[in-house]
Amino acid sequence: MKHLISTRDLDRDDALLLLDTAVDMAATQRREVKKLPALRGVTVVNLFYEDSTRTRISFEAAEKRLSADVINFAAKGSSVSKGESLKDTAQTLHAIGADAVVIRHPSTGAPQLLADRDWIDAPVLNAGDGMHEHPTQALLDAYTLRERLHGDAARGRDLDGVHVVIVGDILHSRVARSNVWLLTTLGAKVTLVAPPTLLPSDTSTWPAEVSFDLDAVLATRPDAVMLLRIQAERMRDAYFPHTREYARMWGLSAARFEGLPATTLVMHPGPMNRGLEISSAAADSPQSTVLEQVANGVSVRMAALYLLCSGVREEGAR
Ligand code: CP
Repeated sequence: MKHLISTRDLDRDDALLLLDTAVDMAATQRREVKKLPALRGVTVVNLFYEDSTRTRISFEAAEKRLSADVINFAAKGSSVSKGESLKDTAQTLHAIGADAVVIRHPSTGAPQLLADRDWIDAPVLNAGDGMHEHPTQALLDAYTLRERLHGDAARGRDLDGVHVVIVGDILHSRVARSNVWLLTTLGAKVTLVAPPTLLPSDTSTWPAEVSFDLDAVLATRPDAVMLLRIQAERMRDAYFPHTREYARMWGLSAARFEGLPATTLVMHPGPMNRGLEISSAAADSPQSTVLEQVANGVSVRMAALYLLCSGVREEGAR
């Protein structure tokens, strides 16, 4: 594994290695260990062409806890606004000394392009590209599920037989795509629930079931319900129902949440639209894993950085 672009590239062993390494890294999240020296002397550039709170801060925390040197690049306020291309930006960063690149980009395929071309010889970690993939989000979601379901016995375990329902704006969701591939690679069953206009046309080729009836799916007592953010900023041509209609048909309202078994986990990648796809009663309940997902993101990103970057200095990958 030289890059982390898509969860489709991960087989079961790759996924378990990442998750088990994250279990080791969680000692820093519990403050038992402050920092690890694993990436001392390695320079990681965080290249963010799109806004982010969780992913950007979490990658930066992960890099610092591994003792890497960190350069943060935001497209806003950079020479990107003067028309500088991804290639020229990447080569500039390489000349400055980047050993690894974390990239978030509004265009599908930008991280793959960076990994495939010889503009920069360094591991590339996809922090979310367009409507394509968000692999570290899916990994932290799988980690959170494993930890909640298996506790201290999580190491080495997959998600065989676990039923996860993903609800909402599947059409625009890189989180949904990455989760469908990763969760099913780990043995879970995935059901997608969305308004017909917010479902991609190719879901028949995905390893997931599709339903338009949230209440019928929730009645099957799933192990987890993952609500997705309605992505208003990407809603160009898609028909979006009225927000009240959406909340009534597809939102995890307080009433729907009360009807769930106490064992069903409530997940959301954030940022949340409270009152639209998720009620505060659900988001703030003990069944909610929203903040655990954020915390686990640091351990998972440490694992990915460690596995991809710990050899770059020795191998002279720059
Ligand atoms: N879940 C997620 O990617 O959040 P941010 O956009 O805040 O990084």
